[in-house]
Amino acid sequence: MISIIVAVADNGVIGDKNSLLWHISEDLRNFKRVTTGHPVVMGRNTYLSLGRPLPGRTNVVVSRTAGEIEGCRVVRSLEEAFALFPADEEVFVIGGAQIYAQTIGMADRLYITRVEHDYEGDTSFPVWNRSQWRLVSDERFERGEKYPYPFVIEVYERVK
Ligand SMILES: NC(=O)c1ccc[n+]([C@@H]2O[C@H](COP(=O)([O-])OP(=O)(O)OC[C@H]3O[C@@H](n4cnc5c(N)ncnc54)[C@H](OP(=O)(O)O)[C@@H]3O)[C@@H](O)[C@H]2O)c1
Repeated sequence: MISIIVAVADNGVIGDKNSLLWHISEDLRNFKRVTTGHPVVMGRNTYLSLGRPLPGRTNVVVSRTAGEIEGCRVVRSLEEAFALFPADEEVFVIGGAQIYAQTIGMADRLYITRVEHDYEGDTSFPVWNRSQWRLVSDERFERGEKYPYPFVIEVYERVK
């Protein structure tokens, strides 16, 4: 089973200059809680942006160019990444834009934090068709502990 997890600004932006544009503790905690114990699949740029493997998760880096990366499985394609795990394992696609664009059509579940603010950035989440998805949970925050704008943590499942 393939799940996408992402935080997206109102205008679709997810990052700039290979880093995130916001720091929302509640969202980071949610990301950790949801993904820990599961495999995470990411593009090479996202791995470089994180700078280290995420603890407590099997880290898979998709790249046509990278050599070995300590603490990660490096694979040459997304097919190779997903083939590493049984079909009933929840595998999390954690970015970035290139990888989301190639997996939004095959994902079963979408964990999306919608940040209710526009940001300028160079990478965006692909346009997704909401009619193909059913909202299964949402939690709204008027602001974060240290973040000034509202955001909503939502989970969608693909309508079969
Ligand atoms: N807001 C969020 O939730 C969130 C989450 C994650 C990332 N981000 C942001 O997204 C940005 C990074 O996204 P990005 O689109 O630049 O990069 P990316 O998707 O993380 O990585 C792109 C790289 O992945 C490899 N790749 C992509 N498709 C492949 C395929 N089919 N087979 C083999 N390798 C493949 C290529 O590596 P090679 O060049 O080595 O072949 C490619 O250059 C950053 O700003 C980051 O902060 C945001």
